[in-house]
This record gives sequence, C-alpha cells and structure tokens, in this order.
Amino acid sequence: MRIAIVGTGHVGAALARGLSGKGHAVTLGARNPGSDAASALAAETGSAVTSPSAAAASADLVILALPWAAVDAVLEDLGGLDGKIVVDCTNPLGMVDGALGLAVGHTSSGGEMVQRRLPQARVVKTLNQVGAEVMARNAHFARRPAMLMAGDDPAAKATVAELLRDLGFDPLDAGDITKSRLLEPFALVWINQALARGKGRDWAFAIV
Ligand SMILES: NC(=O)c1ccc[n+]([C@@H]2O[C@H](COP(=O)([O-])OP(=O)(O)OC[C@H]3O[C@@H](n4cnc5c(N)ncnc54)[C@H](OP(=O)(O)O)[C@@H]3O)[C@@H](O)[C@H]2O)c1
Repeated sequence: MRIAIVGTGHVGAALARGLSGKGHAVTLGARNPGSDAASALAAETGSAVTSPSAAAASADLVILALPWAAVDAVLEDLGGLDGKIVVDCTNPLGMVDGALGLAVGHTSSGGEMVQRRLPQARVVKTLNQVGAEVMARNAHFARRPAMLMAGDDPAAKATVAELLRDLGFDPLDAGDITKSRLLEPFALVWINQALARGKGRDWAFAIV
C-alpha cells in the first residue's frame, strides 16, 4: 500500500520503523524534507521523503502524526484527501485544571473533528493509545499489544486492521468515529502509568 506519514517526530519515526520491510511504499511528509534528520530516517527505513502535501497526494492511506495544535493548518495544506484512508494518531492534549488532560471530550473528540474537517476522507482513529516506542518495536512482548480503532467506514477499518497487524498489534474495532471519545481518554491511561506512576514506556495493553 502507498502510505504517507505526515510528521516525522516520535510517532512518525516509530511508524516508519515499524512498517519498514513490511512491503509498503512509505513516503515521509516532513516540513523540512531536506533536513539531515528527515534524510537519515528515510535512509534507515527505506522510505521516500518529501513535503506533507506531496506525500499525501501520492498515498492511498495518510497517517497524521502531528501535534494536535498543528492539525488544522496541516490539513489545510493537504487538501480534501477525498476517498483516502486517514489514520489519526493524534491526541488533543491540553492542560485541564492544572493537569495534562484532553482539550476536547464527552460531546466530541479529535477523531470526529478530523472526520468533519475531511468529509470525503475515511478517517480511522487509532495508534494513539500507547507510546511511540511500542509502535516501532513490540515483538518482545509475550502477547501482541491491543490496538483499538474507531471509524465510520468498515472497509477502511479492515485495511487499517491489516496495517496494525503489520505493526505487531492485535486490532480491536471500537465502533464508529464517535468512539474516539473513548480512545482519546484511554491514551491518558497509558500516559498516566508511563509518566506519573513509574511504569516507564516499554509496555502495552493486551487482550486476554
Ligand atoms: N509520542 C508518543 O508516544 C505518542 C503516542 C501516541 C500518540 N501521540 C500523539 O501523536 C501526535 C504526534 O506526537 P509526537 O510525539 O510524534 O510529536 P513530535 O515528536 O513533536 O512530532 C511532531 C511532528 O509534527 C511535525 N509538525 C509540527 N507542526 C507541523 C506543521 N505545522 N507542519 C508540518 N509538520 C509539523 C513536526 O515537525 P518538525 O520535525 O519539523 O518539528 C514533527 O515531525 C500527537 O498528537 C501526540 O499526542 C504521541
């Protein structure tokens, strides 16, 4: 599959590493495609690298690996992405009552906002629930880590489920895109354990 990874930070780089050698044509969409870091990541993972808009234009599936605050402006640049599968890995993180929380929730979610922003694209919320390291490498765990996904298009979710398996995950369908309201706070469960409760970053949830 032709995949664009828009954003080459922790998550974008981890997904490029996790998908390397899995038979996909991956293009990194970097805001500085000529940078040493982007070139090194492309060389390491066997990916191409170009601008976010060029990467997305040539892909069947576009992964958003961006800070929530950048999503709106980057989507403006990418255009409508009509018919494409858009994998939304973002979490709408923000400070709430002095603590890390979600800037949106209960009555909407980041996933729904991305789908509303791209009405002709097939948005799937997933790959937001564990740390980037687990996306790059998880074969050392006793079981495949679970990865929930939410989206309105069953065919898009079937395609994304295959991609999640390629990344070593055990995919689980959470339902339509409104279930992003469950998956985004679920990310905070992982973050709380990893960062506030001393569990570190090398762990994940599994289904037993
Ligand atoms: N880190 C994790 O473990 C983790 C896990 C699950 C979900 N998430 C979520 O995934 C998303 C990405 O997280 P991250 O940790 O990968 O963030 P990050 O390391 O800060 O990387 C963000 C990437 O987005 C790019 N970017 C920022 N603004 C941009 C713009 N206006 N146009 C084009 N590119 C832009 C950055 O470009 P530059 O390289 O040029 O700065 C960078 O490559 C966030 O929403 C986060 O909540 C993170």
